[in-house]
Amino acid sequence: MSESETSQPSTAFEWVGGEAAVRGLVDRFYDLMDLEPGFAELRSLHPSVLDGSRDKLHWFLCGWLGGPDHYVERFGHPRLRARHLPFRIGIKERDQWMACMMQAMSECQLDPTLQARLTESFMGTADWMRNV
Ligand code: HEM
Repeated sequence: MSESETSQPSTAFEWVGGEAAVRGLVDRFYDLMDLEPGFAELRSLHPSVLDGSRDKLHWFLCGWLGGPDHYVERFGHPRLRARHLPFRIGIKERDQWMACMMQAMSECQLDPTLQARLTESFMGTADWMRNV
């Protein structure tokens, strides 16, 4: 779904473009993590095969953006900070995660206003994940 003057999307999920578009964003995010040397430290925290990570982030983001709660249906409450405690997450890791997501949003050509809002929201969550 695209934003227009006449039909404002009621959720960020719709504004991104629904489930397939969220999946496209997640796939680009992990493709970039694999491809870009600047995200190497972030990549090294993740499993060698990213299929599970792609599914989980996709399911989580659908709900986080105001769409279907696929993640909660499968795993219950996300307990996101607790689930990240096994990984050393400091400023560098947070900033690589943010840069990777911002590049993915830009390459997926999300509406610039939406990108700005999501950047702010992602930053709050990413900063909350810091544990060192
Ligand atoms: C701040 C920097 C971050 C780092 C370094 C990081 C790193 C990781 C790592 C290494 C995993 C495990 C990979 C896996 O289970 O396949 C993971 C899982 C996950 N991350 Fe992050 N992450 C960060 C921020 C975020 C943010 C901001 C979100 C959401 C907006 C997020 C959502 C998730 C989800 C949903 C999972 C799967 C949790 C599970 O069910 O096990 N992460 N993250």
